[in-house]
Amino acid sequence: MDVELLTRFESEQIGQRQPLPDRYLGLPDEEMEERIARARADLGSRLLILGHHYQRDEVIRFADCTGDSFKLAWHAAERGDADYIVFCGVHFMAESADVLSGPHQQVVLPDLAAGCSMADMAEADQLEVCWDELQALGATDVVPVTYMNSAAAIKAFCGERGGVVCTSSNAGPTLEWAWKRGRRILFLPDQHLGRNTAYKMGVPLDEMVVWDPDLAYGGVAPDRLQAARMLLWKGHCSVHTRFNVKQVEHLRRAHPGIKVIVHPECTWDVVQAADDSGSTEYIIRAVERSPAGSTWAIGTEIHLVNRLAQELAPERTVMTLDPIGCLCSTMFRVSPNHLLWVLEGLRDGVVHNRIVVPDREKHWTRVALDRMLEIH
Ligand code: 13P
Ligand code: SF4
Repeated sequence: MDVELLTRFESEQIGQRQPLPDRYLGLPDEEMEERIARARADLGSRLLILGHHYQRDEVIRFADCTGDSFKLAWHAAERGDADYIVFCGVHFMAESADVLSGPHQQVVLPDLAAGCSMADMAEADQLEVCWDELQALGATDVVPVTYMNSAAAIKAFCGERGGVVCTSSNAGPTLEWAWKRGRRILFLPDQHLGRNTAYKMGVPLDEMVVWDPDLAYGGVAPDRLQAARMLLWKGHCSVHTRFNVKQVEHLRRAHPGIKVIVHPECTWDVVQAADDSGSTEYIIRAVERSPAGSTWAIGTEIHLVNRLAQELAPERTVMTLDPIGCLCSTMFRVSPNHLLWVLEGLRDGVVHNRIVVPDREKHWTRVALDRMLEIH
């Protein structure tokens, strides 16, 4: 294929999910492992593989850097030497990597269907309506803060209106930043992270209201809006909202002295019942640094919990808070087969499943992300 044809081929494919070719199905584990390692070695320093803590063992073992959303965004911004960034995570993470990386770099998500149901709960047109309604209600002192788990269009909207992005590892300082710039915060899309963070900072629950984008004026009464310092978009993570207080109580009875640590995407009552809460990276560090002999129950995605349990046994006992085990099915879509396919493609000069944030969104998304990186 000549260069012009190849470029056209690539640009036609950008943003479209390309199914995994049949020849990448049903491969024995050892063959996949060996071929991934070979393609990775052939690409050398032209390749950076980033792996989120929720990825499967068979995938994350090939990551050059692992981390929570913040740490991975930071790596994407720092590694200008790599031509390709293969993001083993979900769509919003890869979008942020595309915005933060240089123009010569290409970001690849091994399976474009690896989305995030929470991020899908806030759409740009809903946010436009919400903003107009807030203005109509006289709420002009609002700073929009979006969680990293949102589409680039939402981040761009916030950037353009003086707002910012946050992750679960810097939500506190980010809210502080925003309250210096306006009396109220519109926090989206995760009501739980917003509520848990603001409460931890001393904001009482009756100064927070939930904004339901499916209702006129968010379903918020004008007097409630006047009193509110925190407007919480009605979004949630379907994985983390499965954890409940009964599970915490049950494990405390079964294992006296157990420590419970959860992700702040869990509901407020679960976070209150736990001993501690924080981002995926925070959870890992807290458990790793605990004294030998400690027992932990963790409220987050099951791959992180199982891996930590294996790595820290027998000195520490680690278990999931939910006996059924909470799996993020979209994170799970990134399989070793997909990883092999994209890596062999890159080695052979074909970019599959590239993530490109449109130019019209790129500038303001970058502004919102840069503000976040400066706050941390
Ligand atoms: P972290 O930033 O803590 O890794 O969280 C990302 C996420 O999607 C949690 O569900
Ligand atoms: Fe999205 Fe929840 Fe999965 Fe995190 S765990 S990627 S918030 S669906």
